[in-house]
Amino acid sequence: MEDLSKVTCTADFQKLARRRVPRMFYDYADSGSWTESTYRSNESDFQRLLFRQRVAVNIESRNLQTTMLGEPVRMPVAIAPTGLTGMQHADGEILAARAAHNFGVPFTLSTMSVCSLEDIAEHTKAPFWFQLYVMRDREYIAALIERARAANCSALVITLDLQVLGQRHKDIKNGLSTPPKPTLMNLLNLATKPRWCNAMRKTSRRSFGNIVGHAKGVSDLTSLSTWTAEQFDPSLSWDDLEWIKERWGGKIILKGIMEADDARRAVDVGADAIIVSNHGGRQLDGAPSSISAVPHIVDAVGNQTEVWMDGGVRSGQDILRAVALGAQSTFIGRTFLYALGAAGEAGVTRALQLLENELSISMGFCGRSDINNVDRSVLINPGIFDR
Ligand code: GLV
Repeated sequence: MEDLSKVTCTADFQKLARRRVPRMFYDYADSGSWTESTYRSNESDFQRLLFRQRVAVNIESRNLQTTMLGEPVRMPVAIAPTGLTGMQHADGEILAARAAHNFGVPFTLSTMSVCSLEDIAEHTKAPFWFQLYVMRDREYIAALIERARAANCSALVITLDLQVLGQRHKDIKNGLSTPPKPTLMNLLNLATKPRWCNAMRKTSRRSFGNIVGHAKGVSDLTSLSTWTAEQFDPSLSWDDLEWIKERWGGKIILKGIMEADDARRAVDVGADAIIVSNHGGRQLDGAPSSISAVPHIVDAVGNQTEVWMDGGVRSGQDILRAVALGAQSTFIGRTFLYALGAAGEAGVTRALQLLENELSISMGFCGRSDINNVDRSVLINPGIFDR
């Protein structure tokens, strides 16, 4: 197995992934929409939050364990649902789910995954969470919900901010499709990624496993953006959530909440948790960073539902900052995708270990020994995002 001991942070994994993953898939993961200003501020706003360094406090034993939906998690982190994960690395969703389960954090499978619900159920220790996109074909959605139940998923994550797709320039320029079209540019690029190609040759999972062969009229997918433009339902409204809830009957997590009014609405429809998210800066460019929205959402509904966040979490320090502002947990997207693209399952495990170590040590520097007792007082400037 590859020695990853010299890979010591997310930036290292990102560099390695850029080398090893075909350009169109690396770019897909690493893009924001339009000017990418929101994508950038998701990361940079974290760094504006300053810690209060405390000394000579006994921090010998430190606890990072907490709960999500009442279940214990090893640290306040879950794997975010990300599209095309099985194109960052062959069988990527299976590998990431296995790494997450073995480590002790939740894994969320995207509707737009390459490995299917059934693949994850078969190859990992379920339960896991399933992220649902609501598409026009409600018969297909109803069947998808039944498949999630049969796969032993313990919660549905319903993404509310992708009724239409934000434009990501690189995806258009690269002609993003899965599997990649054999154009000259693509072939030249693939020729420089032997590791990726070798692993991909050994799997048959190369398209959208939850969709192809299941949704009516979909036998292969050419352009991702054309397909999503046709299939995603711009008429989705709060009323549809009742329809989903009735069919599902289990826990629901609502993703994509950035405003207090929407958070209150989410509580009204019975969300067991909400995820403060601007979709990694991939949808509304110009929206504020996710971390800056966290305190507003926590103040509005934090005592009525669990508030989690995603967007820009690259280090244990970022996790600590999010928890300090009142998020009970965080999701990592690109941070696990880079590690997966760089080194498969071992990469994701290593990324989780690095985050854990950074979080534990940083919490100690702030004089805290239990993540569950971290609050705004660990920050010097918790009010910088006041509106
Ligand atoms: C899908 O969720 C995407 O952001 O591409």
